[in-house]
Amino acid sequence: MKSSLSLSAALAAVLVGLAACEQPAPVPAGPAFKTVASLQDLMVSVVDPAADALWDSVGSESTKDGLVERQPRSAEDWLAVRKQAITLVESANLLLLPKRPVTAAGAKVEDAHVAGVLSATAIQQAIDQDRPAFDRQVENFRSVAEKALKAIDEKSVAGLLETGGHLQEACESCHVRYWYPNARRPGS
Ligand code: HEC
Repeated sequence: MKSSLSLSAALAAVLVGLAACEQPAPVPAGPAFKTVASLQDLMVSVVDPAADALWDSVGSESTKDGLVERQPRSAEDWLAVRKQAITLVESANLLLLPKRPVTAAGAKVEDAHVAGVLSATAIQQAIDQDRPAFDRQVENFRSVAEKALKAIDEKSVAGLLETGGHLQEACESCHVRYWYPNARRPGS
């Protein structure tokens, strides 16, 4: 009896000791992000089509019938261009996710054969060696896309036109740094 008592006392002491050094419960990890697409995939499938649709929604175009002014007019038109701005704004978050490769293994970047255009490996190195600089380019792009979204929500054609121009500059600013720092893109 005596021995079992001292055993439980010893156990209690151990338990108290354990409780004392118990760590705060770890915060449960959320679901892990899984980056399936490459940066190139995001450019081709998400960023570029959305930007093109936004740019195409407004402006003037010379046709055989003369100058035609394009702009969103109906609620449906505004909604259509709003969807593109939403895609652009949120694509910034996809670009900010770490560990996304520039291209799929072995894929070439567009115009890789042109002198001055970096290879996928060189682009990857440039991003990896100063990730905060890349992230700042993304944040600049996002803030411009947010302004485009605001112009759309205000149904401002002038605002949409203006932010469309700034959007082009935001794309170019990142491209000239990481994609073709030493070359002009053919045709531009
Ligand atoms: C934060 C940097 C960044 C921003 C912002 C950015 N891009 Fe890119 N983009 C890249 C890089 C790096 C490449 C070169 C690697 C590649 O080809 O994917 C690229 C490549 C591309 C390509 C060629 C893809 C291919 O076939 O190789 C297109 C098209 C493109 N971007 C469109 C756009 C447009 C349009 C915008 C703006 C609305 C934009 N990008 C904004 C970084 C950016």
